Amino acid sequence: MASGDMTSSKENAIFPPGEAVHKAAYVSSMEQYHKMYKESVTDPEAFWMKIAKDFYFKEQHSGKFFDYNFNINKGPIYVKCMENASTNICYNCLDRHVKNGQGDVTAFYWEGNDPMDCTNITYKKLLDEVCKFSNVLKSLGVKKGDRVAIYMPMIIELVIAMLACARIGAIHSIVFAGFSAESLSSRILDAECDILLTADGVYRGSKLIHLKQIADEAINLCKDKHKVSTCITVRHLTDNSFSDDVSDRPGKRPCSKVQVPWNSGVDKWWHILMEGASTECEPEWLKSEEPLFILYTSGSTGKPKGILHHVTGYMLYAATTHKYTFDYHAGDIYFCTADIGWITGHTYITYGPLLNGATSVLFEGIPLFPDPSRYWSIVDKYQVSKFYTAPTAVRSLMKFGDDPVKKYKRSSLQVLGTVGEPINPEAWMWYHKVIGNSNCTIVDTFWQTETGGHVLTPLPGCTPTKPGSATFPFFGIVPAVLSENGEEVEGPGDGYLVFKQPWPGMMRTIYGDQKRFEGTYFKRFPGYYVPGDGCYRDDDGYYWITGRIDDMINVSGHLLSTAEVESVLIEHPSVAEAAVVGKPHSIKGEALYCFVTLVDGIEFTPELVKELKERVRHSIGPFCTPDYVQYAPGLPKTRSGKIMRRVLRNVARGNHDIGDVSTMADQSVVDVLFTNRPEQD
Ligand code: WTA
Repeated sequence: MASGDMTSSKENAIFPPGEAVHKAAYVSSMEQYHKMYKESVTDPEAFWMKIAKDFYFKEQHSGKFFDYNFNINKGPIYVKCMENASTNICYNCLDRHVKNGQGDVTAFYWEGNDPMDCTNITYKKLLDEVCKFSNVLKSLGVKKGDRVAIYMPMIIELVIAMLACARIGAIHSIVFAGFSAESLSSRILDAECDILLTADGVYRGSKLIHLKQIADEAINLCKDKHKVSTCITVRHLTDNSFSDDVSDRPGKRPCSKVQVPWNSGVDKWWHILMEGASTECEPEWLKSEEPLFILYTSGSTGKPKGILHHVTGYMLYAATTHKYTFDYHAGDIYFCTADIGWITGHTYITYGPLLNGATSVLFEGIPLFPDPSRYWSIVDKYQVSKFYTAPTAVRSLMKFGDDPVKKYKRSSLQVLGTVGEPINPEAWMWYHKVIGNSNCTIVDTFWQTETGGHVLTPLPGCTPTKPGSATFPFFGIVPAVLSENGEEVEGPGDGYLVFKQPWPGMMRTIYGDQKRFEGTYFKRFPGYYVPGDGCYRDDDGYYWITGRIDDMINVSGHLLSTAEVESVLIEHPSVAEAAVVGKPHSIKGEALYCFVTLVDGIEFTPELVKELKERVRHSIGPFCTPDYVQYAPGLPKTRSGKIMRRVLRNVARGNHDIGDVSTMADQSVVDVLFTNRPEQD
C-alpha cells in the first residue's frame, strides 16, 4: 500500500474551534455531534426526512428512505433514496427562495480576473436568467435526459447554464476549461452530447485562453463518430449579457483581442439567443433517482469515468454538508476558490450554497494575479466569513511569506476549508496562524467526485482539530479501516478506507458503464464502498488520509491516472515504453515523474524531453505537464512483466532503500536508473 507523508509527520497538537464560529454554531459541542451522528447512521430515514422537509417536492415520498445493495455477491450494486418523490433542484436553489421573499438577496458577487471587473446577481435575477436560458435550450430541442457539454470559464453564465439544464431535466457534463481539445472531445463522445456551451475566451492572470477555438477543435475531433449540432458561445470578453448596463464594468476588454472562429451551421451567440426569451419556465419535475449531472474523473485504467449523480440524494447532501461543514448562516459571505469544472465547484459553489440561500463570491481569476494578495483583497472587499481553498493554493501563497497576507485585515474570517489532497501540517499551521489569525477553525474536508460531498470533515463549531487530519465522519457516513485481507481494523491502525453504508449524495453509477462502477468501487472488498485511499485512525479515533492506493497521482489537487499519461507518451514515435509515478513536490503535492524507454537508435535529447512534456500538456491539459522526464534504458519489472512502480517511486525520490526486490527480473536496471536521474529541484 502506498503511504503518503502524513502518518510520519503527525502532530499531536489539538486546536479548539474558533471562538466566533463556535458561539453561534448549529453544532457547538461534540456531545451534540455524537448524538446527531448516531441518529444519522442508526436511523438515516428519521435523520434525512427531517432535512428533506425544508425542500420542495412535487410528489412527496412514502416508504423506505434508502433502498440499496452494497454487496456484489448478492447482485448488482445500486443505491436509491426517496425513490418515489419528485422534485427539481433548480426550483429548490432559486424559486423556493424567491417565493420566500429572498429574491433581492445577492446570490453571487462575481469578481473578474481583472480586479476592476466585478458585478453581482440577486436570486430573482438569477432565476429570470435561468428561465430564459432554459427556454433557449428547449427551443433548440433539448429535453429531459439529453446531455449538454459545458466548457466555460468562471462566469455567471456558467451557473445559469448548469441550472437551466437542471431545470429542464437535461444532464450537464461540465468539462474544466483548462482541459485540452482532446480531453473535451473524448468527454463529449462518451456522453454523446449534442450541444456544447462555451465562451469566446478568458483571461487567467495575464494569459488569454481561446476557449472557442479549443471547443471547435474538440467538435472537429469527434465529428466522425458524433456530431455536435449546436455550439453556444458567451461573448464574455466584450459584454455582460445578464447586466442591462455594461458601463459598470470598467475592466471589460476590447473584443479585437479574441479571435472567434465561426461556423454558421453550428454556432450561435448566447446573447442573441437570450434576446426576447421568456423569464417563465415551468421546471421539469424529476423522480428522485433521475440523473442530474455527469462529471468525469480520472480512472486508473486511463479512460476517464463519467460519475453520475442523481437529483434528490445529491440535493440533500450538497445542502446539508455545505450548511454544517461551513456552519453557513444567513448573513455569511462564502467564498470557494475552486473551479466549477471540478466537483468542489459543483457542490460548493453552485448547488450547496444556492440550496441554502447563501451569498457567495464567484471568482474568475487565480491566486497570484495581479499579486499574491488577491484572495485576501477579495476577503476584505466582500467581508468573507467562510473561505474554502486547496492545500496547493495555500502552499503556493506560503512561498511569498506573510507580508502579502498582512496587507489585508481578514477580520471577517471564521472558517477556513481545505480540499483536494492531504494538507501537510506546515501548510495547515500557516493557514491557521497567518491567514486565520489563530481564531478560525480549519476544516480539512476529505471527499471525492464520487461521494458528491464531504465524507470526513470537522464541524467548525465543535470539532477539536489536528493539523493534517480530516477528523471524523460527516452525518450518515460509516467509515471503516480494512486490512489487506479485508478484515476491519479495530481501534487505531492503518489500512484501506472504506464506507459501510450508503449516504444520499453518493454516485449512482459510471455513465454507461455499470460494470466498471462495480469493479472499481465494490469488488475489492464486497459489502463496502472503496474510495481508493489509504488511511490511518489514531488513538483518539481521528482519520488521517495517507494517499492513494491505486496508480493515481494527485497534482495540485487534481487526480490524474498514470495510465492516461503513459498512453500519451507511448504514442510518440520515439518512445517504446513509459512508466509514470508521483514525486513529492513542495507546492503541487505531487509532481509527474516520467520514465521513458526509447525505440532503438533514438537519442535522448533535451528537445525530446520538451516535446514529450508538450505532448502531455497538449493532450490532457496544462495542469498536467510533467516535471521530469527520465531516460530509462530498461524498466524494473517482475518476472511476469509487471512494471514495479514502487521501485520507480524510489528512484524518483532518490531513495536508494528500495526494499524487497526478489521478484525483479533484472535488478541491474535499477542502478542505471539511479545514475541517470535528471537534475532535480
Ligand atoms: C484526494 C475532490 C486527503 C483523495 C473533492 C480523494 C484528499 C481524491 C482530500 C478525490 C483531503 C480529496 N485529504 N486527500 N481533505 N480531499 N483528497 O474526485 O485522494 O477530484 O480520493 O474530489 O482527492 O479527488 P476528486
